[in-house]
Amino acid sequence: MTKSARKRVVVLISGRGSNMASLIAAAIDPAFPAEIVGVISNRADARGLEIAATHSIPTKVVSARDYDGRAAHDAAIHEALTQMKAEIVCLAGYMRLLTPDFVQKWMGRMINIHPALLPNFRGLDTHARALATGVRVHGCTVHFVTPEMDDGPIIAQAAVPVLIGDSEETLGQRVLRMEHRLYPLSLRLLAEGRVRMSGGVAVFSNVADETGETAIVSPGERRRR
Ligand code: GAR
Repeated sequence: MTKSARKRVVVLISGRGSNMASLIAAAIDPAFPAEIVGVISNRADARGLEIAATHSIPTKVVSARDYDGRAAHDAAIHEALTQMKAEIVCLAGYMRLLTPDFVQKWMGRMINIHPALLPNFRGLDTHARALATGVRVHGCTVHFVTPEMDDGPIIAQAAVPVLIGDSEETLGQRVLRMEHRLYPLSLRLLAEGRVRMSGGVAVFSNVADETGETAIVSPGERRRR
């Protein structure tokens, strides 16, 4: 794919940045339909900023402390996105609520990854809540961002089993490994125009469905010996 045909993507982070790193890794391939042209963090101490810098990706800190209120903070982020000529925005562990006005400006071009099978477990502590609820299948979701938190048309989901004896940490690691596969896959669909947001839902074209009996069954069906 020619460089100019690749969509310009800016990633918004607040911390570790492992999902951002998975997008950067995917976009190293020149055939990937998007390039990561910038990373914006609302926190100066976000570890992801160092990772981005090691890949020579421009970074910018836009701290809420420097602005009077959410609207002004989001306006500064919008300005930074415009300067970076962003075409697509990926939220990757960006832990601040966005104002409806900002979301409106990027609707259909802004996606988020959430560590649960939405619409279950919106918000924080998703793995602890999945364990407390006793669901046997958990996972992650990439969706278009709409003004409601962790809402919006679903682009892709990955499911993992909850194993007997799982802790928040073991379950979280299993989900995170899937997040790192799901986010690049979802960005590819959006950048190639194979998914778009229309009429409040995700509309797909030229997407190959997985067929066959691929269900995750948990607990497993094997008999105990
Ligand atoms: C990820 O698990 C992501 O799904 C979650 O924060 C973590 C960030 O990790 N996002 C949300 O909970 C958004 N509602 P990372 O910084 O290593 O990508």
